[in-house]
Amino acid sequence: MSLIIRGATVVTAEHEFRADVVCAEGVITAVGPGLSAPADAKVVDGTGKLLLPGGIDPHTHMQLPFMGTVASDDFYTGTAAALAGGTTMIIDFMIPGPDGLLAGYETWRERAEKSACDYSFHGCVTAYSDKVAEEMGVLARDKGINSFKHFMAYKGAMMLPDDALLMSFNRCRDIGALPMVHAENGELVYYLQQKLLREGIKGPEAHPLSRPPELEGEAANRAIVIAAVAGVPLYLVHTSAEQAVEAIIRARLNGQRVYGEALGGHLAVDDSVYRNEDVVFARAHVMSPPFRPKGHPEALWKALQAGHLQTTGTDHCAFMAEQKAMGKDDFTKIPNGCAGVEDRMSVLWELGVNTGRLTPSEFVAVTSTNAARIFNIYPRKGSVSVGADADLVLWDPTVQRTISAKTHHQNVDFNVFEGMKVAGGPSVTVSRGRVVAADGKLLAERGAGRYVPRTAFGPAFEAAGKAKALLAPRAVQR
Ligand code: URP
Ligand code: ZN
Ligand code: ZN
Repeated sequence: MSLIIRGATVVTAEHEFRADVVCAEGVITAVGPGLSAPADAKVVDGTGKLLLPGGIDPHTHMQLPFMGTVASDDFYTGTAAALAGGTTMIIDFMIPGPDGLLAGYETWRERAEKSACDYSFHGCVTAYSDKVAEEMGVLARDKGINSFKHFMAYKGAMMLPDDALLMSFNRCRDIGALPMVHAENGELVYYLQQKLLREGIKGPEAHPLSRPPELEGEAANRAIVIAAVAGVPLYLVHTSAEQAVEAIIRARLNGQRVYGEALGGHLAVDDSVYRNEDVVFARAHVMSPPFRPKGHPEALWKALQAGHLQTTGTDHCAFMAEQKAMGKDDFTKIPNGCAGVEDRMSVLWELGVNTGRLTPSEFVAVTSTNAARIFNIYPRKGSVSVGADADLVLWDPTVQRTISAKTHHQNVDFNVFEGMKVAGGPSVTVSRGRVVAADGKLLAERGAGRYVPRTAFGPAFEAAGKAKALLAPRAVQR
């Protein structure tokens, strides 16, 4: 099956140019002016529109069993919603159960078979042992997992102490995988949660009080120091607090290879949502780190603009109101997580490009290309070039809509961007050369997505290893 998109302005992370793009057998076969295509090729008119690499969401949790329930978007509904919004690949977090990382990997592969778009996995290290170290090596070498998340929060569940972080970061270094952290000081979050409950403050308004921005800044800094000691690059997921941004900037200015991700939600929403008199509304916003006081979102924007943060994700982890109600008498039992995979691209365009914070090329970088580079799948993903997977979005900068849970495709009854008017969105989404959404009609196919293995030891990783001697002469490998 072949496809030609004629007359659009191609926008990559580097530049914009007018070209036709031909796709066959799922890959891009030609990019240039005045191209011809096989007689039976599907023709899409791109006149007046932009043609972008499909969005990559590096942070999702589809059908995740979490906090006594299971996230309501499964790999099909969640990835179909992603395609509707112009995201053509997700990287989901594989969180192992008691059977370990390899068993977890098999479980995730099975769950993800129904995906409508391409997908890959990060591993999660929730305890450290010889068996975990061994399995991390197998995943990196044989299964295409080159990144591992570590939780510095969720005490009593997935939280890792500092010595385990160092051992796991060392292991990541040795196997060529990128360590990632959820940076919040989990000990102090737990202390504050218990204190608030003892004081009788049990509603969702207590959630941000138990997780102040300073605790994210402290944990971010600690993780960065541990990565320096290990001599390994580091990726901070869902960076939400100005203090964490400052820690990243300090490290980068010191020559350490540290990456940061911002979420669409944290860029657009502030913590006033937790003080809303509608408790169902407030509860629906419970996620970790929480939405932050005004000022923090702007700090995230400035860091994205400056390149101190490189990627945007969603932390898509959808829960229905009835699931959120599990914590109606105790905010610590509200399942943590919010949806967003469908709207990230439009929200980033509206608040980024339409305000002049980002150029279209910078938009492509932070929604797609940088993630492809950091996670070592570039230029197969995140580029419009011959040989790349034909994951493309024909973007109409003029199309207007109001975001709402009433019209979104995500399998959840709430949208944190509810009522937001956005100008700019996908008019056609192409996944591996197939039109999967066009003019508001979703044509996603269950099971059409493919697993994308990611090779260990990416270029950035190797550079960090080599540069270690220059960057941190006092650091010793343990
Ligand atoms: O609240 C969140 N973020 N839920 C998903 C798990 C995580 O920490 O990423
Ligand atoms: Zn997290
Ligand atoms: Zn997450």
